[in-house]
Amino acid sequence: MNLPEHPYDVIIENGALANIGTWVSSLWKKQKIVLISDNHVNGLYGQKVVDQLEKAGFEVATFEFPEGEASKNLLTAENVWNFCAEFGLTRSDGIIALGGGVTGDLAGFVASTYMRGIHFLQIPTSLTAQVDSSIGGKTGINSKMSKNMIGTFTQPDGVLIDPEVLQTLGQREFREGLGEVIKCALIADKDLWNLLTDLSANDLVEKLDKIEEIIYRSCEVKRKVVVDDELDNGVRLYLNFGHTIGHSIENTAGYGKVMHGEAVAIGMVQISKIAELKGLMPKGITDQIRKMVKKYGLPDEFQPWDEELLFKALTHDKKARGRIIKTVIVPEIGTAKINEVTFEEMKDYLKK
Ligand SMILES: NC(=O)c1ccc[n+]([C@@H]2O[C@H](COP(=O)([O-])OP(=O)(O)OC[C@H]3O[C@@H](n4cnc5c(N)ncnc54)[C@H](O)[C@@H]3O)[C@@H](O)[C@H]2O)c1
Ligand SMILES: [Zn+2]
Repeated sequence: MNLPEHPYDVIIENGALANIGTWVSSLWKKQKIVLISDNHVNGLYGQKVVDQLEKAGFEVATFEFPEGEASKNLLTAENVWNFCAEFGLTRSDGIIALGGGVTGDLAGFVASTYMRGIHFLQIPTSLTAQVDSSIGGKTGINSKMSKNMIGTFTQPDGVLIDPEVLQTLGQREFREGLGEVIKCALIADKDLWNLLTDLSANDLVEKLDKIEEIIYRSCEVKRKVVVDDELDNGVRLYLNFGHTIGHSIENTAGYGKVMHGEAVAIGMVQISKIAELKGLMPKGITDQIRKMVKKYGLPDEFQPWDEELLFKALTHDKKARGRIIKTVIVPEIGTAKINEVTFEEMKDYLKK
C-alpha cells in the first residue's frame, strides 16, 4: 500500500498464519501486544497466534468480545481502552486485529485513539475483511444514530492475509464477501470479471479455487483507488457502486436481515437496471451482472420494494450531499464513472 505518509505491505499467502511471529518481528521490536478478536475467531485461531507471538518474544494479552455487529460500539471500545491501560500498553506497543470486519474496524478505532494512536496490524479472517475492510484505513464503531458514524482514518503497519482460514468461514459469509469481489471486478478489473465468469461457483465456494488470485485482484482494485484518494473525496466513491441502493435496503430491511454484501449485490443489479434504461450503461449489462450475482448465490432483488421507504433511507445516506446524489455507474465492465442525479430523479428511478 504505497500511501505517501504511511506505506505498508499487504501480504497474501496460504498458510501465512503459521509464520505470524516472524512477520510481526520483521515490523515491530519486542514489545507488548494486545490481540483483539471475537469469541468465534479467537476460539479457532487465537491460541495459535498467541503461541507464535510469544515464541517470537512478544508479551501478549488477548481481548475477546462477543462476535457480531452489535459489539462494534463505544462500550466495547471503552472496554478495550481500559484493558490496554491495565495491561500497561504504551505508545511504543501495538494492537493486532484478528478477525472479520467488525474486529478490524473496532481494533483500528481503538488503536487510533488509545494514547492518540499506537501501532496496529491487521490479520483479516473473513472474505469481506480480506478484500475490503482491512484495506484502506477506515476504522469505526456504530452509534445509535447510524452505522460507522464515529471513526478515524488510520493505516495499519501491515496486513497479513491467510486465505486458508476461509475454510472455517460460514458459506453465507463467504458468498457475502463475493458481493464486494464482483463489485471490484465491475468497477476496475475486467480480468477478474472473466475469472469469475470462467470459474465454477462450487469450486470457488467449496474448494477455494483461485482464491489467492481473487483476493489479490480485489485488494489491488481497492489499493489503487485508495492511493488515489486516501481521504475519500473523489474516485474512492467508485467503491460505492451498488452501495447507495444497497445501504437503503440494509436500512429498510433492518440491520442483520440482509447482509451488507447481499444488499450490495441487489444494489448493483438495481442501479444498473436504472442506468441501462437511461442509456448510461450498455444494453444487456444488467443481465450479465444479474447472472453473475446469482451464480455465486447472491440475491438480485429485494421484496417488498417500497420506494418511499427506500428513498427515505437513501437520502439519509452519507453520500447524499445537498440535493444531488452521486451514484456510481459502470459504462463498461471494468470501468466506473460518477453520475450525479437529483433527489427527484432518484425518487422517480426507484419507482421503476
Ligand atoms: N473499514 C472498512 O472500510 C469496511 C469495509 C467493509 C466492511 N466494513 C465493516 O466490516 C463489518 C463486516 O465484516 P464481516 O462480515 O467480516 O463481519 P464479522 O467480523 O462480524 O465477521 C462475520 C462472522 O464471521 C466470523 N468469522 C470471521 N472469520 C472467520 C473464520 N476465518 N472462520 C470462521 N468464522 C469467521 C465472525 O466471528 C463473525 O461471526 C461491518 O461492521 C462493516 O461495517 C468495514
Ligand atoms: Zn461495501
